Amino acid sequence: MNANLVGPGPSGETPVVFGGSAAAGRLLVPEVATIIDIRDETASGDVKTFKVRMDRPEAEEAWSHLPGQCAMVSVFGVGEAMISITSSPTRGWPLELSIKRVGRVTGALHDSQAGDKIGLRGPYGNRFPTEEWKGKNLLFVAGGIGLAPVRCLIDYCLAHRDQFGHVDIVYGARSPGDLCFKDCIFNRWSRQKDTTVSLTVDKGDETWTGPTALVPMFLEELGPSPKNAVAITCGPPIMIKFTLQSLAKLGFTDDQIVTTLELKMQCGVGKCGRCNIGDKYVCVDGPVFTLSQIKELPNEF
Ligand SMILES: Cc1cc2nc3c(=O)[nH]c(=O)nc-3n(C[C@H](O)[C@H](O)[C@H](O)COP(=O)(O)OP(=O)(O)OC[C@H]3O[C@@H](n4cnc5c(N)ncnc54)[C@H](O)[C@@H]3O)c2cc1C
Ligand code: FES
Repeated sequence: MNANLVGPGPSGETPVVFGGSAAAGRLLVPEVATIIDIRDETASGDVKTFKVRMDRPEAEEAWSHLPGQCAMVSVFGVGEAMISITSSPTRGWPLELSIKRVGRVTGALHDSQAGDKIGLRGPYGNRFPTEEWKGKNLLFVAGGIGLAPVRCLIDYCLAHRDQFGHVDIVYGARSPGDLCFKDCIFNRWSRQKDTTVSLTVDKGDETWTGPTALVPMFLEELGPSPKNAVAITCGPPIMIKFTLQSLAKLGFTDDQIVTTLELKMQCGVGKCGRCNIGDKYVCVDGPVFTLSQIKELPNEF
């Protein structure tokens, strides 16, 4: 890695090299933003979606993200956390971030209220290579909060519907109450042309009449064709591990499979070395990788 600071350019499309500490300083300074709405995604309240707007209109105008990219979210006096942007750029402001309560920063965010101030910097990371998928069938396979980055991508692809073939969305959660983004699932995506939404839960309840199966087994039962298709999968590491095996059984090659890596991050701009695997910095070179690219990385994560 060179001594310069590498980060996504203002459009988020092409990485730009910023030289010198002044530029580095600017890139790491968060913009002040306001939480304008918070909604529970899950019955237990462990995942919430935050709608946020930047306080400076010029900062909103300068912001431009693409599906797969993330924002570094700060709670002043507590710390920062890298969070996928779950709202599609095609839907404009406010930005939406879906956050699971796991520790200090995410806990402080869950304890906030509409009107509270937070910090936002980014967008960071690479993007899903949608340009390469034109004319292909898209298979999305997600588990739990793994639907957050995929939701941005699905909405983006559906906003450019004519560029893609059939869209298959396979989503699972531990229980019906853990299914996130119910409005998208039931009211928007399932009503789109040439789009199939298949849901499963590990364990049903009295309200659930759908399948009960783990995502990888459910996927194998559905048996989507790998022909002219790309599979995008996000979710807990254990789900990803077995989903990759299931996709291989279905005949998907490593180049046809795209996923995201979630390593602990600090700077988000390829500077601190917190997220490197071999010569790759996940915050800059990822988080989106094909399975072929992942297999080329040293097995150290
Ligand atoms: C590219 C990327 C995208 C992400 N997108 C989202 C998202 O959309 N929504 C969301 O809720 N979370 C997302 N995360 C995870 C999120 O960044 C962490 O959960 C968050 O940083 C935890 O901060 P904390 O201060 O609340 O937890 P801490 O108090 O720092 O830690 C609490 C516990 O969580 C573990 N932990 C912390 N960070 C991570 C991590 N990155 N991976 C695995 N375990 C971790 C710690 O080891 C500890 O056990 C993403 C992470 C990355 C790298
Ligand atoms: S988070 Fe600092 S180098 Fe990636």
